[in-house]
Amino acid sequence: MTETTKQDRVLIFDTTLRDGEQSPGATMSHNEKLEIAAMLDEMGVDIIEAGFPIASEGDFEAVTDIAKNSKNSVICGLARASLRDIDRCMEAVRHAARPRIHTFIGTSPLHRDITALTMDEMADKIHETVTHARNLTDNVQWSPMDAIRTEHDYLCRVVEIAIKAGATTINIPDTVGYTTPRESADIIRMLLERVPGADEIIFATHCHNDLGMATANSLAAVEAGARQIECTINGLGERAGNTALEEVVMALKVRNDVMPFTTGIDTTKIMNISRRVSQVSGFPVQPNKAIVGKNAFAHESGIHQDGMLKNKETFEIMRPQDVGLSGTSLPLGKHSGRAALRAKLEELGYTLGDNQLKDLFVSFKELADRKKEVLDDDIVALMQATGADSQNEVIKIKHLRVICGSEAPQTADIILEINGVESHCTVEGDGPVDATFKAIKTLYPTQARLQLYQVQAVTEGTDAQATVMVRMEEDGLISTGQSSHTDTVFASAKAYVNALNRLIVRRGKTAPNADVREIKYTDAS
Ligand code: KIV
Ligand code: ZN
Repeated sequence: MTETTKQDRVLIFDTTLRDGEQSPGATMSHNEKLEIAAMLDEMGVDIIEAGFPIASEGDFEAVTDIAKNSKNSVICGLARASLRDIDRCMEAVRHAARPRIHTFIGTSPLHRDITALTMDEMADKIHETVTHARNLTDNVQWSPMDAIRTEHDYLCRVVEIAIKAGATTINIPDTVGYTTPRESADIIRMLLERVPGADEIIFATHCHNDLGMATANSLAAVEAGARQIECTINGLGERAGNTALEEVVMALKVRNDVMPFTTGIDTTKIMNISRRVSQVSGFPVQPNKAIVGKNAFAHESGIHQDGMLKNKETFEIMRPQDVGLSGTSLPLGKHSGRAALRAKLEELGYTLGDNQLKDLFVSFKELADRKKEVLDDDIVALMQATGADSQNEVIKIKHLRVICGSEAPQTADIILEINGVESHCTVEGDGPVDATFKAIKTLYPTQARLQLYQVQAVTEGTDAQATVMVRMEEDGLISTGQSSHTDTVFASAKAYVNALNRLIVRRGKTAPNADVREIKYTDAS
């Protein structure tokens, strides 16, 4: 027995840098591997499988340097069932305070065919290679690759040979992600019952996720007696990946009532390492990925958001802080209710009365119908667009339709309500914004000069809100208007009209009798 009491402690063996790095396209640089290894060590991973030293010079150097820099974790290297592989592996891991050699051979009929070894020849090879590894270090792990599809009698036989040859950990890989929770448990139970010496070593479970059952299969193996889980950050790995470290660790923490096992992992470091592994491997984390997905602690529907605001436990089985997030996110979208909008406004520093909130909620729902997610900036933009200025609206846009495209002329068709009276015109211009501004000026002639017209996308995506800022000047009076909308031309029209409305108010303030000039309506259509 090596690192555990075998009662309730489950060792976490991370193979992000070996099996994870085997994902097509997930190659990491030397420095990135060192950085990830340091993070794994820091978060309390018991064993780090740092690479496959004989595979390449780069792998050898990475394992060597990770071993040299290791602090608490055991540093493990992978080796095939060959004396040369094992020697090379030892050369790299020997720099660690706690080195481990992990040697393996495929034992299922399919693998025996490939290696062209009979059962007996393979048994001899296992004895020879494990003995050799054990002569180099007292921490030896042995894996019968494709154990799940290996005949049970033969599996028991080779496991016994490996134990007798000195293996201290026996790993049972589900190399092709084929097993089920019950079978995974049954195999561990069978080995514990049938193999002499099985109670003296640690059984490990190593699951791939081809059928989406890697986490369930690993936990079932633990319940049956395995005390080491092999896993990767974000479930990175060959094909559908390996068991995700964050899933098994959090499952054991959250459901400790039914699975009374502990790990040494500081779970608050999970999010950080998940993001870093995603960055360096170039494998984005799917938004709905358990524990580390962007939506794992996000609640959008009105009922859920309301419940969360009243009592977080209604819809949250673990605290976001436990995985290193600052808190729950209640992203606003079309399913959100008024309670969530009020909470968001308060978070952004706005306190609204009930009626103001009611009005804003209408604009918010309109926006949410057009946008997938309403971001903080969208809310700020909505607040600006529907702010106190709306009480001073002399001019209101009732309708705007603009024809634009490659065929000139661009045309704006607009209806404005000015002091309660509607008027309409259709005006051509040099582009849609020019046509729109000319149309507004046609219905509300003014000497004001446009000083600034600026468009900015305040949120991301093609459905982003554009914020348009307009500044105009008239007889030394400066007025600005701002508006946001997913339609940039409409936002421009509103910003222009906002600036005009403010100008009218300012005129009134500086010249009390001249609040609204006489308006001559022109219909240019
Ligand atoms: O999946 C597997 O069988 C492996 C072995 C090398 C342990 O990764
Ligand atoms: Zn594997």
